[in-house]
Amino acid sequence: MDKKLKFAVIGKPIGHSKSPEIHQDFANQFDVKIEFRKDEVTPETLETWLSDFFKDGGKGVSITLPLKEAALNYADEISDQARLASACNVIYAKDEKIFADCTDGFGLIKDLEENLKVSLEDKKILILGAGGAARGIIPSILERNPSKLKIANRTESKAFSLKKDLGIEVNFRKKNLTFEAGGLSDDFLLSGSYDLIINSTSVSTKAGESIGLPKALFSGTKLAYDLFYSVENTVFMQEALAGGAQKVSDGWGMLVEQGAESFRLWTNLIPDTSRLLEKPID
Ligand code: ATR
Repeated sequence: MDKKLKFAVIGKPIGHSKSPEIHQDFANQFDVKIEFRKDEVTPETLETWLSDFFKDGGKGVSITLPLKEAALNYADEISDQARLASACNVIYAKDEKIFADCTDGFGLIKDLEENLKVSLEDKKILILGAGGAARGIIPSILERNPSKLKIANRTESKAFSLKKDLGIEVNFRKKNLTFEAGGLSDDFLLSGSYDLIINSTSVSTKAGESIGLPKALFSGTKLAYDLFYSVENTVFMQEALAGGAQKVSDGWGMLVEQGAESFRLWTNLIPDTSRLLEKPID
């Protein structure tokens, strides 16, 4: 391919995004020439930005905060994953149409199953947080048939409404799944033990901040996974280790794997993620 394929990552803030480096690594594997922009875009400037990008021959866009919900409004076709999540992290042009998809759940499952060798089947899972990040991953988690899924959020009502929105999906999937929602009270959190605890809250983006979880929460936990990526262990990961979690992980692997899936949607090429998984980009 001689012509450069045009990609971009958009959101605000955007300076920290590693998407250009990740996609450049993928493109190098196939000798594909790409141009990857990193643009600060807000919900107010999104429509104009997208229209200009696609008019200019743009192919694919990674969508980050705070555009994940708003970007759905500009797609002709929305995937089931994005519809269930009410959010997308990728949009792209294909066959004269704009498609929206959510590859976050795919990225998480791939990282858990293939990289960390953790199966979700019949496992007890706790998800902390009920925002867009939780919405993006829960449908994919349900597909793996856990025995229990509990959503705990600081604002209890948001956990309940997330559970309600996903109720149809749950009934459709598995009859004997225990599916609960609640707040962050010790009573609710400690009324069970968990094989896997996933932090989907935005707390790790604020350096040094803690959710204030009870230490006993992590006893018996096989893996505590933070969706946020960080070179140092996040506060959540540190607390999980101190509370007895057997293993912790940040979300670097998920970021790389969701990027690989986005790259596949844009180019029909499946990149090898092993080099990036070994060595996070500073
Ligand atoms: P995202 O799309 O990244 O999920 P969001 O929709 O703003 O972003 O959601 C952020 C999540 O982090 C919410 O679940 C939020 O809890 P509330 O619904 O109560 O706001 C959670 N969160 C953020 N800071 C937190 C903190 N210090 N302790 C506990 N939860 C926190």
